[in-house]
Amino acid sequence: MGVLDSGVGGLSVLVHLRVLLPGEHLIYFADQAHIPYGPRPPAEVRAYTAAITRFLLGRDAKLIVVACNTATAAALDHLRQTFPDVPFVGMEPAVKPAAQTTRSGKVGVLATPSTLNSHRYADLMARFAGGITVFEDACAGLVQLIEAGALDAPETRALLQRVVGPMLAEGVDTLVLGCTHYPFIRPLLHEIAGDGVTIIDPAPAVARQARFVLQQRQLAAPDDQTGRACCFTSGRAEQLAAFALRLTGLKCDAAAVVWRGDDWVGTS
Ligand code: DGL
Repeated sequence: MGVLDSGVGGLSVLVHLRVLLPGEHLIYFADQAHIPYGPRPPAEVRAYTAAITRFLLGRDAKLIVVACNTATAAALDHLRQTFPDVPFVGMEPAVKPAAQTTRSGKVGVLATPSTLNSHRYADLMARFAGGITVFEDACAGLVQLIEAGALDAPETRALLQRVVGPMLAEGVDTLVLGCTHYPFIRPLLHEIAGDGVTIIDPAPAVARQARFVLQQRQLAAPDDQTGRACCFTSGRAEQLAAFALRLTGLKCDAAAVVWRGDDWVGTS
């Protein structure tokens, strides 16, 4: 199974896939040469993710998890059209579970600019946010801090306080992690928001959906198979492997993929 993100964020999904599907081989792709995707025009994200999909299919991925809200918003429809035989599982901010959870009727969504500006997000809001008030923030700079491993740094704390402080003052009691990088700052967010605030991470639901699609298409690995995990990055391989170990406890071989323009040209 292929799993893709702009960087380390999708590892927050990979870890749930590993637990739920221990027999599946997992191939993770972090497009760290092009991170962040959040401020990029959707057409660029479509080109990158299509190239990554070709790469993963070339390594026998039977299903692709787009473990990135931004890439799902920009590219999922395009990927499904371009690769009609390939099953894709995407992800989007958990507005529906948040609307079901909130008691104050006030919800905060933390995502990226591109996710918040997308048609997909507008559609989600129209369908599920009718009776609630939603406060949004594009968390400028947060993805970069997380990529740099600054999970508990003073700048990260200050940024989160700036973002969620006003939401909490408005009475928000539910926060949605609308970017796969954000589960890695969940402990810090919890510390700032306090016990009365529910934080929703859609990653476990995405892993369950991936398992469902595999079973439905009869693509699941045989029961006696032990799944392997390997990682590829368009950035630095040893850095990604170290991050994966630190954040998820998963040991995986990592290799670098070389890009020219909008496409990859090989591994190094
Ligand atoms: N991890 C990605 C997401 O879920 C976004 C990070 C980026 O901006 O590249 O939206």
